[in-house]
Amino acid sequence: MADTDVDDGSFESFDIYDYWKECRRDQPVGRFGGPESDIWLVTRYADVERVLRDPKRFSSRVNADTMGPVMGTVILAMDGEEHRRYRNLVAHAFRPSALASWESTLIVPTIHRLVDGLADRTRADLVEEITSQFPVQVIAGVLGVPSEDHGRFHEWALDMNKGPDDYPVSIAASAAMRAYLTPIVEDRKAHPTDDLVSDIVTAEIDGERLGDEHIYGFLRLLLPAGAETTFAAMGNCLLALLEKPAVLDRVRSDPSLLDAVVEETLRWETSVTMVNRETTCPVEIDGVEVPEGVSLVCATGSANRDESRYTDPDLWDLDRNEPPHIAFGTGRHQCLGMHLARMELRIGLAALLQRLPGLRLDPDDAVRVEGLAFRSPPRLPVIFDSVLPGPPG
Ligand code: HEM
Repeated sequence: MADTDVDDGSFESFDIYDYWKECRRDQPVGRFGGPESDIWLVTRYADVERVLRDPKRFSSRVNADTMGPVMGTVILAMDGEEHRRYRNLVAHAFRPSALASWESTLIVPTIHRLVDGLADRTRADLVEEITSQFPVQVIAGVLGVPSEDHGRFHEWALDMNKGPDDYPVSIAASAAMRAYLTPIVEDRKAHPTDDLVSDIVTAEIDGERLGDEHIYGFLRLLLPAGAETTFAAMGNCLLALLEKPAVLDRVRSDPSLLDAVVEETLRWETSVTMVNRETTCPVEIDGVEVPEGVSLVCATGSANRDESRYTDPDLWDLDRNEPPHIAFGTGRHQCLGMHLARMELRIGLAALLQRLPGLRLDPDDAVRVEGLAFRSPPRLPVIFDSVLPGPPG
């Protein structure tokens, strides 16, 4: 494997996709960052898929070590029957049939309200004014927590995502979020409504209601998982389109292409590039012996650019007609919110393209996708000719 030292803080100038390309070619299963590392990295599509679909040999418990101190008890760190039972408590709320009602009551009004905020302007930073606010307001609405506090959720989510890189900050954010949520949780315990917080606080396992540890675990996971991933993915979709004005025009005149925009962007530049597992026994992957008890990073971002699966994988190609990506993972932990994310991205992008004629990148302000485990453009400075009115109501 490329012996790039991934711990030397040089990531700013480092292209993770070049690194993964070398890994796929030279050592697709190997120690992450050098021979001394006790973390292993899996980079080819077939191997990532195999690991994620084999929960017996590749456990999710490892997420308890990294996320547990910050998030508490979360389904991302559960295996087997325990995982199935807890996931089922909330899964119904994220099925396409359940989401249909959110489209007109929550998702469409939220994005149009945000675009209304650009009225009389011809410039904006779409990250600051749209993408950083839209998915967090939607997930707050789904959960039933006040969406006007989205600024705080966004800050807490960003801080919690720092995890082991900065435990004092991430644990403080986690405590602040719990303190904020406590009166809401206590209110719904006493007076359940039809929101998801009520579902969670009244859910029962073996005839017993969930303890606070599990309740806050769900809320601490769902708010950031629902907000930060999709916010970043929307930035990636917008940048992909804005960098190709001819494609943007094509999509504007044929919005049915938006599904392809979303899927190709999730393949080309997913917002969540890695998921973690731990080996429960010695296991061979792609001819390499991996010991028991090691931490495995499955690079879904790398798998999505595997040249044995995709032609010219580094190219963003709207007309690509190739097998699906693995941006939402696969197997039992496959993203619970993927239908919601797809719906938000399609509706959010459609609203921006329809209502902002002449939308283009500010030529004086270059931007690019940044980050490692989470990737997105930090800013999207754009110019547009005007802001057209939104739908009535
Ligand atoms: C484009 C946006 C998104 C991406 C790229 C993404 C990616 C992922 C991935 C890769 C996993 C699998 C983790 C694993 O196998 O360990 C996952 C799990 C999960 N995602 Fe998403 N996600 C997105 C949006 C959302 C949204 C909108 C929600 C809303 C609640 C959500 C909630 C979850 C939850 C709860 C899990 C854990 C599922 C489990 O452990 O059973 N995600 N996501």
